[in-house]
Parts: sequence; structure tokens; C-alpha cells
Amino acid sequence: MRTHPPSRKVIAVLAAALLATGVAACGNSDTGGSSGADDGTITLGFSQVGAESGWRTANTTSIKEAATEAGIDLKFDDAQQKQENQIKAIRNFVQQKVDVIAFSPVVESGWDTVLKEARDAKIPVILTDRSVDSADKSLYKTFLGSDFVKEGRLAGEWLVEQKKAATGPVTIVELQGTTGSAPANDRKKGFAEAIAANPNLKIVASQSGDFTRAGGKQVMEQFLKANPKIDVLFAHNDDMGLGALEAITAAGKVPGKDITIITVDAVKDGMQALADGKFNFIAECSPLLGPQLMDLVEKVHNGEEVPARIETQETTFTQEQAKEALPNRKY
Ligand code: AHR
Repeated sequence: MRTHPPSRKVIAVLAAALLATGVAACGNSDTGGSSGADDGTITLGFSQVGAESGWRTANTTSIKEAATEAGIDLKFDDAQQKQENQIKAIRNFVQQKVDVIAFSPVVESGWDTVLKEARDAKIPVILTDRSVDSADKSLYKTFLGSDFVKEGRLAGEWLVEQKKAATGPVTIVELQGTTGSAPANDRKKGFAEAIAANPNLKIVASQSGDFTRAGGKQVMEQFLKANPKIDVLFAHNDDMGLGALEAITAAGKVPGKDITIITVDAVKDGMQALADGKFNFIAECSPLLGPQLMDLVEKVHNGEEVPARIETQETTFTQEQAKEALPNRKY
């Protein structure tokens, strides 16, 4: 086969690519240190909340797969739902001079000191899934994640519609997520705001089940003992709702009929419970943040401007919609 010398057009394209690489490398110099990879590979330090729920497992898989796909060197840390572990992990990432730090903060408060340390080391930080309550927005580049208040509101609005004909009190129990976490605070707020539209809807008990199945089961058992009449359960995630199903069945009640169950997430097990008629409604919270996160990591590393807030696109599911969506549900 005859080979041709490279055309002028090809040479120009190669030269432009080389120039772009050089510019990017210069741009990186003040976005932080480098953990040592001289081949241009970006190193991302990521501190995950833990493995408390099906949502979290799907989120971890999405992040790991997307990092591999993007050729990003991921240093992954599991904080086991403890803020002190996340602070330690972020300090380690700073010491290792990773290029970018991303994390999903287990709770909203108490991050300013460690975030200032990352900023002083010129390492850009991205918040993913959950946000922090820091007044100083320069401590992080962007926040990628859901609108948790909206999720709670959508759950509450659905209930208001279902119970619009109620003439007497409708008693609601609430399984909150991890105390102090953004999704627990915000979903509670959104739900309370929405149900205020119908004075018959009353929350009679509200307690944390820590976003876990075991927590949901245990707290629901207490709710059932203390409250002879429970009409509705609002669980801040599917896993707590799934744990609560066991307690409800053990108490001789039929989930989805005797007690209306509303949850958040729409992971496969939750969608199955909804399709089976055990749950009544789910407000979706998408865990598939990996690809968008890697895109942001590359952009902030290259010194590009990114929006301060990127909201995840989500929907809601009724029992009928869950039946349709289940066969294609990936997580
Ligand atoms: O921050 C997202 C929440 O955390 C999910 O709703 C829950 O399942 C997870 O543990």
C-alpha cells in the first residue's frame, strides 16, 4: 500500500492540538499541584458518603465507571457516613496534591476550615449530590446535584391531590434521612410546604432512619407502636421505605393499601415495590452523576468557567409508570 506524506492540513491540525495541550498545561499550573502523573492524566480525589443505600451504590458505580471512561485517575474514599472521615480524606487529597477534589458532604455544616485548606493549596473543589451551607461560595467551584426541596414538594403535592376529598385528619409519619444532611433538611421542608395546602394532612411523628433499610424498619416499628392510626408514610428514600415495609407487614397491615407509602430515589428495588403496589408514589433522585462530574473535573482543571449550580433532571413515578419503566431501569 502506498503511503502519502502528511498534508499541510494534517500538519496544521497536529500543530494546533500540540499548542492546545501546551496552553492547557500552563492553565493547570495555578489550579493546583499535581500528584505526580507527568503524562497529563488528571488525578481526582473523591470522598463518598458511604454505602448506606441502593442510591449510594449506584452513585459510586457511576463515578467509578465515568472516571475510567474519561481516563481520570480516581482516588476514591468511602467515609462510612462520618464527617470526620471525609475531612481526613480531603486533607489527605490536599497532601497528595491531587488535581481536583470532589465530594458529597454527609452533612451540610462544618466544612469551611477544610475547604479553605484546599483553596489555599489551589486545588479546585466540586460538590456533588449534596451541598454545604458555607456562606463563602468561593470555597468550591460548582455544585452538581438534585433539588431536594423540589423532591419533597413533589411528594407532598401528590399527597395533597390524593387526599383532596378527605374530611377528617390524615395522619402522616415521616422517616427522615441522615440528621443534618441536605436531602433530609430539604425534603422535609419541601414536603411540609406542600402539605400545608390541606389542613387535614398532619405529620404526627418524624424521626431519622439514617437513609438505611435497618433504620427505616426500626423507626417504623416504633411509629406503629406509638400511633394506632397511621394513614401515610413519607420516607426520604427508597431504602428506608423498604425497611418500613417489613415492620408494616409484621404489624398485620397491608403496605400501599392500609398505609399509603411515598418515597424518594426510584432505585430498582423501590420501583419494584411501587410496581407491586406496596409503594404508592416515588419522587426520583438520580444517582447517575458520574459523566457530568468528570466533564466538570476536566473543565475546572483546565481553568474553564463552569456554572455555579448544575441541577439534575428528574421525574416522578406512579405505580403504572413504574411498571412501564422497570424493564429498562439500570440501577
Ligand atoms: O443524597 C442523596 C441521598 O442519599 C439519597 O436519596 C439516599 O438514598 C442517599 O443515601
